Amino acid sequence: RKELSNLQETTIAVIKPDAIDNVGKIIDIIYSNGFLVKQMRMCKLSSQQAAQFYKAHAGKHFFGHITSHMSSGPCVALELVAEDAISKWRLLLGPTDSVEAKVKAPSSIRAEFGSDETRNACHGSDSPSAAKQESDFFFKDKSLGFCAKLKHCTLC
Ligand code: TYD
Repeated sequence: RKELSNLQETTIAVIKPDAIDNVGKIIDIIYSNGFLVKQMRMCKLSSQQAAQFYKAHAGKHFFGHITSHMSSGPCVALELVAEDAISKWRLLLGPTDSVEAKVKAPSSIRAEFGSDETRNACHGSDSPSAAKQESDFFFKDKSLGFCAKLKHCTLC
């Protein structure tokens, strides 16, 4: 129902370190599904920054797994705009666990590019407030562009 949709909604997508070799294919999927890429940034998070990014999950059994994975190599963050961008991107991602995604949503991004519940290729914001927080995290002090100091980057 058109009147209930969120025109021009923003979400944050993150291509995680396990999917970094598939950045081109994933950006193709983003464009071919009608998203506008408003900002994009490649960076390498420290473990503290990864813990900050996933702070909503602090204390959960997988917190150490996801923070060490997210800080294990470069990732690419994108600010995406589309109608109902948050749910639209999460639908393209598929289930959290890539093993489950391969069974239940075989053409999803997590099925195609991820390998398990931690190495699941991409992140997507789960609410407008999370999208705002995550946008500030990656982009507040930075303009569009890839990090020139990627090797040692911890968000510069
Ligand atoms: P969550 O917010 O539940 O999933 P989603 O990314 O689909 O919104 O969890 C955040 C991330 O934590 C998830 O993308 C991968 C990792 N994770 C694990 O490593 N093990 C788990 O059992 C779960 C639920 C998540």
